[in-house]
Amino acid sequence: MDIPVKRWYEAVKNRYAQQKYMLKEIKPFTLKSLSKKLAELSNVYPEVRLEVYQKSIKEILPALRGKYGEFTDSPAFLAIILQDKGKNRWLKAGYIGEAAILEATALGLGTCWIGAHYLPEYTKVELNLKKDEKLVAVSPIGYSSENYNLTRNFISKLFPHRDRRNLADLCPDGYDQDWPSWVKNAVQLASYAPSRLNRQPWRFYYGEGRLVVECHGEVTAYKKLECGIALLHLEIGALDGGQTGKIEFETLGLASFVKQNN
Ligand SMILES: Cc1cc2nc3c(=O)[nH]c(=O)nc-3n(C[C@H](O)[C@H](O)[C@H](O)COP(=O)(O)O)c2cc1C
Repeated sequence: MDIPVKRWYEAVKNRYAQQKYMLKEIKPFTLKSLSKKLAELSNVYPEVRLEVYQKSIKEILPALRGKYGEFTDSPAFLAIILQDKGKNRWLKAGYIGEAAILEATALGLGTCWIGAHYLPEYTKVELNLKKDEKLVAVSPIGYSSENYNLTRNFISKLFPHRDRRNLADLCPDGYDQDWPSWVKNAVQLASYAPSRLNRQPWRFYYGEGRLVVECHGEVTAYKKLECGIALLHLEIGALDGGQTGKIEFETLGLASFVKQNN
């Protein structure tokens, strides 16, 4: 996948889950630019497709069992659509979905992952899903009206760890200060990944040029999706740290970023 490293690195640092939106329409140029990137991202894996609907998030929420929080109307929402079959498809949904979220963030839009069981009979929105597809997550998109954004940006600069587990907890075999700087950068960025109720189910292991993502506790579909989100952050952090490499599913843990031998 073509990763605009600096752009998404900044987006990781600036992104927060936003529940409140202005009704202001998204600028046509911004929407066009987002749609272009989403079309590109929908071609990365055959199992995952992204779609923007110019409808309020509140129109789709009644059909999502298990969502939480009070959302206001938004001018549009993003849908993350997954095929019924395919290896590692939940990891891919998180990986590609987060790419869309980071691109929207880079375009100045607010987002919030909402992953929940979809019951189409509870909404009038016609998603036009194919027979073998299901909606696995959505996000409102629009200009955030959360007026504490500035404060949050300020706080995140002062306390870059935000409300996340510390790195030693996330690396069960130990977090080694002597690891190469790209590894430390990658793990740090991965720790900022969003997860449902901020449960942070990912764990990281490093050895022999391979950074592994594993799931803590019982492995569920949504925990895999969240590990897919962390996997993208890991890759952005590694690339930002100057290390090229590739994503590999399964070999060890759920997936890895494997260093390219230069
Ligand atoms: C799969 C998934 C589902 C989520 N579901 C909801 C939700 O239903 N309602 C909500 O307000 N936030 C939801 N979130 C957002 C998380 O609560 C939020 O990402 C987490 O608390 C960390 O905060 P941050 O994103 O501001 O860093 C979800 C996040 C993920 C990844």
